[in-house]
Amino acid sequence: MSWALHPLTEEQTEVQKLAREFAKAEIVPYAAEWDEKAYFEPTLVKKLGELGFLGMMLPEQYDGLGADTGTYLIALEEIAAADASVAVLMSVHNSLPTQMILRYGSEAQKKRFLKPMARGEILGAFALSEPDAGSDASALTTQAVKDGDHWVLNGTKAWVTNGNTAGMIMAMARTDTSGARKGGRGIGAFIVTPDLPGFKVGKKEDKLGLRASPTVQLNFDNMRVPAENLLGDETQGFIYAMQSLDNGRLGIAAQAIGIARAALEHSVAYAAERKQFGKAIKEFEAIQFKLADMAMRVAASRALLHAAAAAKDRGQSVRQFSSMAKLMASETAMWVTTQAVQIFGGYGYVKDYPVERLFRDAKVTEIYEGTSEIQRIVIARALYGQS
Ligand code: CAA
Repeated sequence: MSWALHPLTEEQTEVQKLAREFAKAEIVPYAAEWDEKAYFEPTLVKKLGELGFLGMMLPEQYDGLGADTGTYLIALEEIAAADASVAVLMSVHNSLPTQMILRYGSEAQKKRFLKPMARGEILGAFALSEPDAGSDASALTTQAVKDGDHWVLNGTKAWVTNGNTAGMIMAMARTDTSGARKGGRGIGAFIVTPDLPGFKVGKKEDKLGLRASPTVQLNFDNMRVPAENLLGDETQGFIYAMQSLDNGRLGIAAQAIGIARAALEHSVAYAAERKQFGKAIKEFEAIQFKLADMAMRVAASRALLHAAAAAKDRGQSVRQFSSMAKLMASETAMWVTTQAVQIFGGYGYVKDYPVERLFRDAKVTEIYEGTSEIQRIVIARALYGQS
C-alpha cells in the first residue's frame, strides 16, 4: 500500500525500499526485546552508516549521500515505523551535529569529523538542555572559560540522546560569563569527545518510551576542550543550535509519522482479523471512522512535512513550518496510537502486540526538540513577524 501523496523520485523509491528491507531484517524482529530490556544495539550505528543513512544530507565529498531533505525524511519514516528508538539516533545525528559542522565548522573540523560520521564510525549527539534549562534553552549555565589554547567547561547537560555511546557531542556552553543574560548571545558550541579529561557520563534515564535509545546526563568537570573544537564564533552557538533545530524538528516529525503509520497499519490488519458479535470488527462503523481519521491525519501530517522539506531545499526559511510539521505530526502520533490501543482493546494494553510500545514511544515526540507549547510559540511569533 502506498501512503505517499507526493510523487517519489527514483532515488526516493530506492532509498525507501532499502530502508524498509533493512528495517524488516535488522530491526523489526528485535524491537520489542530491545524495548523490554532498554537495550541499545551498538552494531546498528555501523550498519546504518554502511547504508549511507548517517550521512544522508552530507555532500559526497564527505562520504555522504548528498540527498535532499525529503529523501532523508522518507528513510527516517521507514526506520521509525520499525523502531522509534533507532529513528531518534538517525534524526539527531543527521539533523543536528553533522549539519552544524557542515554549516559552521572549519575545514579541519569537517575533515576530522564528517567522513567518519557519515560512515557510522563516529556517532554524533547534541547537548543543549540542562536540568534547569529545557524550554528556556538560552538560560543554560554550563560555563566555558578560555585558558590558553583550551576552553575549560563546567556544568551538567541533560536529556542527551546517545550521550553515552556517541563519539562526539555538540555541546552548548556560556562563553560570556559576565553574568548578564544576553538571550541567545554569548553561548558557544563545542565539539566534545568522550576522551577529554573531565568528561563524565552521568545518570541514565529510565524512560516511559524510546527505551532502546539511551538518554543520559553528561557532567563536565573542568573539562579541557582544545580551542580548535570551538565551532565558528564563540558567541553564536545558541543561534547555530536553533537553526539546526529547524532541521531537527523536521526529523522528529518524520519519526512521529513513522510511529503513527505503524499504529495505523497494525490497526487495519487487526480490525480485519478480530471478530466480535459474529463479524470482523472492521465491519463496524465505530472502527471504520477511527481508521479513516487515523489515515487522514497521517496523510495530512506527511503532506505538510514534505512541503516544508521542499521549501527548505528551495532555500526558504522554514522555522515556523518545521515547528508546524513537528507539532502536527507529534500530536497525530499521540492521537493515532491512542486510537490504535482502543481498537486493540485489552490486547492494545499488553506487550504481546506492538501498539502498546508505539503509544509509549509517541509521547516524547510532543516533548523533545521543543515541546508542543514551544512550537506554538514559534508559530505565533512568526504570525506577528517576530523572530
Ligand atoms: N533560527 C535562527 N535563529 C534563531 C532561531 C532559529 N530557529 N530561533 C531563535 N533564534 C535566535 C533569535 O533570532 C535571537 O537572536 P537575537 O539575539 O539576534 O535576537 C536568539 O536566537 C534568541 O532567540 P529568542 O529571543 O527567541 O529566545 P528565547 O529565549 O525567547 O527562546 C525559544 C526561544 C524558541 C523558546 C527556544 O529557547 C526554544 O526553541 N526552546 C526549546 C528548546 C529545544 O527545542 N530544545 C531541544 C533540545 S535538543 C533535543 O531534544 C535533542 C534530542 O536529543 C532528541
